[in-house]
Amino acid sequence: SKLVGLVGWRGMVGSVLMDRMIAEGDFDLIEPIFFSTSNAGGPAPAQAKAHKTLRDAHDIASLAECDIVITCQGGDYTKEVFPKLREAGWQGHWIDAASALRMEQDAVIILDPVNEHVIRKALAAGGKNWIGGNCTNSILLMGLGGLFRENLVEWVSSMTYQAASGGGANHMRELLKGMGVCHAAVAEDLANPASAILEIDRKVAQAIREDVPTEFFGAPLAGGLIPWIDVQLPNGQSKEEWKGQAEVNKILGTEQTIPVDGLCVRIGAMRCHSLALTLKLKRDLPLAEIEAIIKSGNPWVKWVPNDHAVTVKELTPAAITGGLQVGVGRVRKLNMGPEYVSAFVIGDQLLWGAAEPLRRMLRILLD
Ligand code: HSE
Repeated sequence: SKLVGLVGWRGMVGSVLMDRMIAEGDFDLIEPIFFSTSNAGGPAPAQAKAHKTLRDAHDIASLAECDIVITCQGGDYTKEVFPKLREAGWQGHWIDAASALRMEQDAVIILDPVNEHVIRKALAAGGKNWIGGNCTNSILLMGLGGLFRENLVEWVSSMTYQAASGGGANHMRELLKGMGVCHAAVAEDLANPASAILEIDRKVAQAIREDVPTEFFGAPLAGGLIPWIDVQLPNGQSKEEWKGQAEVNKILGTEQTIPVDGLCVRIGAMRCHSLALTLKLKRDLPLAEIEAIIKSGNPWVKWVPNDHAVTVKELTPAAITGGLQVGVGRVRKLNMGPEYVSAFVIGDQLLWGAAEPLRRMLRILLD
């Protein structure tokens, strides 16, 4: 069986990947070699077979033994190691969760339920670099892939509600600590039903301004939101916003660019990214037809009827978190005209947004 090197398997995305690979029996099909940046020589995890010792993730010769390398180690690692590995003549497949190589000409952004045709074509042409997409874009396309497949989308305005996990494990901790700080500031008042709500609010506002930790997000997130994600670009977009159009079109392999733009906002969800979308369709289609096309996108689409009671139960982080289903709801015609349609899409940022496309690419390579 193929020698598959795993790098960054202990971090947050890597751990989700490991869990999914175990659940799907992927380790039955491969000969894993586990790498480490900090503990080479230590014991590999229980999934190891012949290679029971951790190898050094910076040892190019060791990496070059692998037929396939999967990394969740992050962009800095990719930038350092990948060029050296290719320069050494390595011809294997590189599957990467980091964005570093995503927009390279010879890299494919992998999301096979949506772009298997693009992946297969690149594979047949000798492609070897397979990069996971930005989580928000992968979730958008998992939700509305059907509409794109039918070439119905003229443009998309994408307003996002992105969870703390997109920043990393430390960011999730910081969110929770901040929630605790807010609560602690008013715990006694809350316990007393006769306390004044505006007094509670004043104390919470002060706690948010002064005491909620901001080390990782750079601003208080608990009890609020942050309307900026990633660095600023000269045109006024954030880098996260820039990725929308660039990646969606690259994933789909479009010949004519579909405009995708909107504002990306960090909110206090743990690991579910959501998007409030305005789509301009190329035609005025009946809602029933739009629904059928969206549902036909892939088996993970969870259609939620545009009904209050069902929506608040099913189209929320509480309902979606930790699972592979991508919720799609709030679909209706907008006042702007019959081709203008709204949609709310929500998915687990660590699953389809990060780990799942990687292990599915591995399966494609093992076919
Ligand atoms: N950049 C994303 C975020 C996560 O910050 O939510 C990675 O795709």
